Formats: sequence, structure tokens, C-alpha cells
Amino acid sequence: MVVSIDPNRTIGRIDPKLHGQFIEFLGECIDGGLWVGEDSPIENEHGYRKATLDALRALEPPVIRWPGGCYADTYHWRDGIGPKEERKTTFNENFATYELDDHSFGTDEFLRLCELLGAEPWININMLSGTVAEMKDWMEYCNREQPTDLAKEREANGHKAPYGVKYWGIGNEVWAGGGTMTPQTYLDEYRRFASAMPSFTTDVFASTQMYAIASGPDGNKPRERVKWTEDFFRGLAQYRQPPINGYDLHFYNWNVDNDADTPTEFDENGWNTVIRGCLELEDILQDQWRLMNNGLALIQESEVAMDSKLTHVDLIIGEWGNWHKTAFFARPALKQQVTMRDAITTALTLDLLQRNCDKVTMACNAQTINVLNSLILTEGGRTVLTPNFDVFMMYKAHRGMTAVDVARNDSEDSDVYAFASIDEEGKRLLVDLTNAHMSDGAEVILQLPCEADVESMETLASSDPHDCNTVEHPDVVRARDIDVNGAVYATTAGGGTQLRVQLPAASVNTLHVTLR
Ligand code: AHR
Repeated sequence: MVVSIDPNRTIGRIDPKLHGQFIEFLGECIDGGLWVGEDSPIENEHGYRKATLDALRALEPPVIRWPGGCYADTYHWRDGIGPKEERKTTFNENFATYELDDHSFGTDEFLRLCELLGAEPWININMLSGTVAEMKDWMEYCNREQPTDLAKEREANGHKAPYGVKYWGIGNEVWAGGGTMTPQTYLDEYRRFASAMPSFTTDVFASTQMYAIASGPDGNKPRERVKWTEDFFRGLAQYRQPPINGYDLHFYNWNVDNDADTPTEFDENGWNTVIRGCLELEDILQDQWRLMNNGLALIQESEVAMDSKLTHVDLIIGEWGNWHKTAFFARPALKQQVTMRDAITTALTLDLLQRNCDKVTMACNAQTINVLNSLILTEGGRTVLTPNFDVFMMYKAHRGMTAVDVARNDSEDSDVYAFASIDEEGKRLLVDLTNAHMSDGAEVILQLPCEADVESMETLASSDPHDCNTVEHPDVVRARDIDVNGAVYATTAGGGTQLRVQLPAASVNTLHVTLR
């Protein structure tokens, strides 16, 4: 395959928040996976499982969404604050978790985790079984600087300073588990909740620091013959605007049609189905972006909304990842292994999000620990980093860089996918090359318009694409530095550089290049 990269044809800045994570009270994502409690025999720091915390410290997730997902719609934040022995015990039925919920991990534990990791918290409020007053109090508890009763309660719970939580989700998948609403019923609810959000500013001229996120569609799927985005925005144009900053689309790559296909057992057909499936997100997000902007144009024309300043809403992918059929029956709930097949789709998804960074500003992998597209798996006291963890680590270098255009110069069908980003000075080029062929290696010819040196190459691959990391064999699939002299052959001519790069079958590769 021949690709050429023109560092001058830029797409936009890659918001680090495209590398976000999602954690939920589901299965052993939080309880057991992230949180074991201070009295646990499992090594922990103030109750956070140490091995998980260390992995997250290395990963530095820019944003973390919590407490759900579906769970958010049954979550009452007051159950999870204050002295541990006084917290409520409830029952968690979410996705057949079927566990007692002692609420020992609550708002303060989540927000301290975000502080430890330097992550922006995104809290999804309970729109289904909670109230506007409950939401408002939660926001006050987290963010109020003035010494109100709720601010004093936060101080009594060990955090005097406001946490400054900016991102608030209003509803989750409201077309399904979040209320089986129509766009109009959701809009009516959304307006009540969003209009009641405090601004936490005492400067009347300051724009609000709070960021309201509306529940968006399920991919491109119409629900109950309703076109979600068109109808939601058309409805929005009938009113003066409530705060709305982001629109949260969810996309799962469903692998549920073949009973014989499991997370670790698949043939070439199953491999190709899952790879192709993840790529659908690119068209979906572009369609949704267009529909949102058509909707915003309606708002601009609307007489009712005409004094509104709403000209832009961010597109967010609040949940994405592979969902294999066995996850439905898994114990703990929704736990699935992660092979090279999942690592490849994780890489391709990050590539397509980064390539569309002029449209998408935030995205969260579903989910970080022990649920679906995991980065971390735990079993009792043992902790395993999956190949997905390595992909996210390899891609960290893209955060804050500028995405650039990558053009394919050949007509042949190829399973190799490329993405590139460049730093502000136009010197440091980072190229992702993913060979999505299950069994064949590939050669890529990379054409650059200037002289260049390949500094390093990192590769994630395994001799068998079904390989995964287990507690018995935790490092079967690990990214490694490749000797560039053996894998990349560079020639320069006419001021340009051509790089011939050898890629193993079923591999994710990143090339660090310096342009001269
Ligand atoms: O990530 C698992 C679940 O998938 C979430 O709780 C829900 O929002 C989605 O349907």
C-alpha cells in the first residue's frame, strides 16, 4: 500500500479528551476492579486497588465518565457520601450485576480519583428516578465555593475546596433504559433539568463554566421510527435555549450474530466482521454531525429561539467499544477477554476519532476495567493489562497534536489503515499503521514531502491473533520497540522521503518521525 502524508494539510487539534474512559457500577468495573476498600487484603491506596491505580496513573486518562451508563438512572448521590458505616446498602440489578451495593465508592472517592490522575470528571446525573432538586444539590455539593450547608458538608467529608466539576450529562440512553422516551418527551425533561443547573459564577458577564451534555442517539439507528437527532434539534428550535454544550452519541460494535464467535474463538469471517463493524462509526459520526448542524441552522432561523446564542454543540461519543455476545451471560456482568482483534478495533476507533477531531471533541471507551472493551482485567488479587491498554498508551503521544491528511495513492484493496498527526512546530510526526489482516504481513510505502528520520517504531502484535493476556500469562501480548533498521527502509529523492515499512499480520504500529 502507498500512502502520502502532507503535514501542511491539517484537519484540527486532537483534543486529549478523545482518549477518555468510562467507569460504571457494573459487574466488577468499580467494585473489585478499581475499588477494593482500605481493609482489603488486596494491595490498595486509600481503597483504590493499587495495580489498577498505577495503570491509570501511567495512562493519565484526560476525562472519566461516571457513575453510568444505565446505573446512573438508579443512582442517588447522597447514598454514597459521608462516613462509610452510615452509607446506604442497596441492590445493584444493573445488567444483572446482582450484588449488594454498599456505596463505599461515592462522589468524593470518584472525584479524588480524578484529582489523583489529573482527569476531568464527567458526572452523569440521574434523570430517570432522580429529581431536579437532587441534581442541583449534587452540583452544589461538588462545586459551591460559598459556605453553604452543602459546601460545609463537602468540607466535613474531607474536601474544603470545590471540585470544579464542569461536565454534567443529563440523562443516559433516554431512548432505551434511560426512560424509553421520545425526542419530545426527552426534550421536555432536558429543559427542566438543564435550566436548573447553577452557573457557579458571581460574574454576570462570565460565560458559564458548567457544561451540559444531552443524551444523543444510538449510532444512526432510528428508535420507534423516530429520527432522534432531527427531531431533538427541531424541538429545541421551538424554545429559548436551555444550556446545551455537548450531544452524547453512543456506539457499540455489536458482535452478536454468530453464536460460535466468542471474544477468544473466532475465524477469519468473525475477525473481519468485527474489524468492519468498528469502522461504521466514522460514517455515523459524520452523519450525526451534519444532522446536528442542520438542527442548529433551524435554531438560528427560529423566531422563538432567535435571541439564543446557540450556534455550536460539541459532538461527543460517550460510550464506544466492542460488545461480544458472551458478555450478556458473563459473570461478573459484561466481562469479556480482549484479544488482538479488540486491540485492532480500539486502534482503528481512536484513529477515526482523531481524524474527525474537527467534529468530535470527547469520547469515552466503554469500559476501563472488567467490562466490555477493557484496558484492565482483574481476578481476585491479580491484575492484568489487556492489549487495549497498550494501544491507548501507544496513542498517548497524539494528545494535543494536529491531525493531518493521509492520502492513499494506490487502488488496490488493503487491510492497512493509516493515521498521522504533527506537533505545533511541524517537526514531530506520529504515524499509526494498523495491519488489520488476520494472517498476512504487509508492506507500506509512506511518502513524505521532506527529508525525515524515523526515530522509533512501536508494535503491538502476537504470533496468534487470538492471543490475550491472562492472570497465568499476563504479558503474552505487549507492545514493544522495534529496531527501525530492520523494519523501515528510507530513501530520499528530490527533497522528499520514502519509507518502506514492514508490518506484521494483525498488528498496531506507531512510527515516531522527525521532519527536517
Ligand atoms: O456500557 C454498558 C452499558 O451500555 C451502559 O450502562 C449503557 O449506557 C449502555 O447501554
